[in-house]
Amino acid sequence: MMFQRTAMIAGNWKMNPRHSDAEALVKTIAQGIEGLEGVDVLVAPPFTHLALVREAIGSARIFLGGQNMHWEMSGAFTGEISGRMLQEATCTHVILGHSERRILFNETSETVDLKVRAATFLGLIPIVCVGETLEEREAGQTFEVIRAQLDASFHNFKADQLMRPSTILAYEPVWAIGTGRTATPAQAQEVHRFIREWIENTFNTGTAAQVRILYGGSVKPENIADLMSEPDIDGALVGGASLKGDSFVQIIRYGKA
Ligand code: PGA
Repeated sequence: MMFQRTAMIAGNWKMNPRHSDAEALVKTIAQGIEGLEGVDVLVAPPFTHLALVREAIGSARIFLGGQNMHWEMSGAFTGEISGRMLQEATCTHVILGHSERRILFNETSETVDLKVRAATFLGLIPIVCVGETLEEREAGQTFEVIRAQLDASFHNFKADQLMRPSTILAYEPVWAIGTGRTATPAQAQEVHRFIREWIENTFNTGTAAQVRILYGGSVKPENIADLMSEPDIDGALVGGASLKGDSFVQIIRYGKA
């Protein structure tokens, strides 16, 4: 039996926008999704904007997420934020292992694994990112790279033989992020299918049927409908286009005009 997964459209704001522009952005999104059902909407602002964004969300159905966290609860970790602090700032989700963190800040699947474990322990829903570089794709290593990232980023889940069905994954080919070069729906579907099969083989069919797998990399209003028509694409993690309220709302309302 097919399991109906609720679509999720998540905005990864990265190190944007100015604090003074965040409120208007959230208000545009809130207004744009009023009365809309059947899709989960999330924004992941910079840490310093969390309180303002929570206030601006008000009663709108928008989830709040962090863009990263440390795996310890507290301690001498200058410059870091713990999962508990994210929760105190009313976050329900946290993006982990984004390729910018992996590549620019030397984050490894081993530390992603520690973070996934800490987030899950706290009840924060991790959105775990995986994806290959252009070099790896051209060398025919896409599946190998994704499998290695999955194995190492969910090491702890594997040891326990348990992945919570609420866990969210994001396939973000590095070559498609911020480049305007989107993976074709077929290219994305192929990897999403591979990830779902990995979940099925590593855990079980029920979990594989429930876990949402988002696509990320130059998602915009023009390409969201085609991507979402693929059976294993359950939503999108949107960078650039999530900073413009109108574009983000159009993405969320894809196919609902
Ligand atoms: P992009 O970023 O939509 O600007 O390509 C996506 C992401 O990095 O999550």
